[in-house]
Amino acid sequence: MLAENLASVADLFKTKSPVLLGVDIASTSIKLVELADAGKGLYRLERYVIEPLPKDVVTDGNIVNVEAAGEVLRRAWKRLGSRNRNVALALPAAMVITKKIIVAAGQREEDLELTVEAEANQYIPFALDEVNLDFQTLGPAPNNPDEVEVLIAASRKEKVEDRVAVAETAGLKARILDAESYATQEAFRLIAPSLPANGRDQNIALVDIGAHVTHFYVLRNHQILFSRDQAFGGNQLTQDIQRAFNLSPDEAESARKNQGLPENYDRDVLQPFMESLALEVTRALQFFFTSTSYNQVDQIVLAGGCALLPGLDELVAKRAGVATLVANPFASMQASDRIRPRQLAQEAPMLMIATGLAMRSFE
Ligand SMILES: Nc1ncnc2c1ncn2[C@@H]1O[C@H](COP(=O)(O)OP(=O)(O)OP(=O)(O)O)[C@@H](O)[C@H]1O
Ligand SMILES: [Mg+2]
Repeated sequence: MLAENLASVADLFKTKSPVLLGVDIASTSIKLVELADAGKGLYRLERYVIEPLPKDVVTDGNIVNVEAAGEVLRRAWKRLGSRNRNVALALPAAMVITKKIIVAAGQREEDLELTVEAEANQYIPFALDEVNLDFQTLGPAPNNPDEVEVLIAASRKEKVEDRVAVAETAGLKARILDAESYATQEAFRLIAPSLPANGRDQNIALVDIGAHVTHFYVLRNHQILFSRDQAFGGNQLTQDIQRAFNLSPDEAESARKNQGLPENYDRDVLQPFMESLALEVTRALQFFFTSTSYNQVDQIVLAGGCALLPGLDELVAKRAGVATLVANPFASMQASDRIRPRQLAQEAPMLMIATGLAMRSFE
C-alpha cells in the first residue's frame, strides 16, 4: 500500500520538467507565474495572471468546487498565453504534516522507504492508506556523520487529489505539490537582496495578509523559525464596510475597489482596520518572542493583497518599532516586455506563493 502511495507521490514530487508554472489556488483568485532561467541563479518573469475566483469555490484552503476551480484555472492559463501545461501547486501548510527524522546514512531508497513508513506510522494521525507521503534527505545529521536528516511530509490524499483534479480539469499536469509555507520561503530568496546585509543572520518576519488568513513567519537565513496563522485578512475589511454603510458583500467589495465609499470611510473604517492589522502583527511578534529564545526581529516584510493598503507599512513599522517593507519578489528580476511595470508593482506582493512554486523548476 505504501509503496503504491510512494510511487504515485514520487511521480508528483520528483518528476523533472523543464519549466513549471507556479499556481497558487487561493481563496479570492488563482495566481499563475511563469519564470525563465536568466542564468547565474537569476530569473526572468515571463508571464503572470491573477484570475478572480467566485465566492465559495475555495474556502479556508479547501477546494469546495473542483469543477468551478478547474474552469477558472483553465481561463487563467488561456489568459497567461503560455504553451506550458506543467504546473507546481501547493497545499496550505496546515494540511501538511512534516517531521524531521534522523536515520542511518547510506541506506538504499527501498530501505529508506520502509524506515519512513515506520516513522510516519508514529507521527501521522491518519491511516497510511489515507495519506500521501513524501520524504527528502536534507543532509548529514548535525552530530553524527553516520546519520542523515530526513524530512517526511504527509497530507490527506483527498486534499492532494482535489488539487490534482483542478489542474486536470484545466487541461494541466500537476508535477509538484509543495507546501505554501515552503513556496513562500523560496520566494523570500528574491526579497533578501533588498534587505540590509541581504538579511543574513537576521530575524525577518514575513507577514502574508490575504483575504481570509494571515500567515506569519519568522525566517532566519532562509529557514522558518516560527510560524502562525491567524483567521484575519481583507475579508474583515469588506465586512466592516458592509456593516458601516449597510451594503451587500458584493457592493462592499466593488465600492472598495472603485473608491466609491463615503468620506468618513477612511477615518471610521479603514484606519481602524489597519490598526487592527498592525496589532495582529505585534501580537504575532510577541508569540514569537515568548515561544523562542529570540527577543527581536530586524525587519518586517508585508505580503498578500492587504500589503497594498497605502501606508500600512509605515503604520506597522511605527507600532512594532521595526523597519517594514512591502514584498516585491520581482524587485531585482528582469521582466518580459509583455509585462506592464506599474501593474506588476500593484500586484507583486500577492504573487509570493506562485513565484516560489515557479522557482521549483530551476532547482
Ligand atoms: N490594492 C489593494 N489594496 C488593498 N487591498 C487589496 C488590494 N488588492 C487586493 N486587496 C485585498 O487583498 C485580499 C486579496 O489578497 P490575496 O490575493 O493575497 O488573498 P488570497 O491569497 O486570495 O487569500 P487567502 O490567502 O486568504 O486565501 C482581498 O481581501 C483584497 O480585497
Ligand atoms: Mg494567499
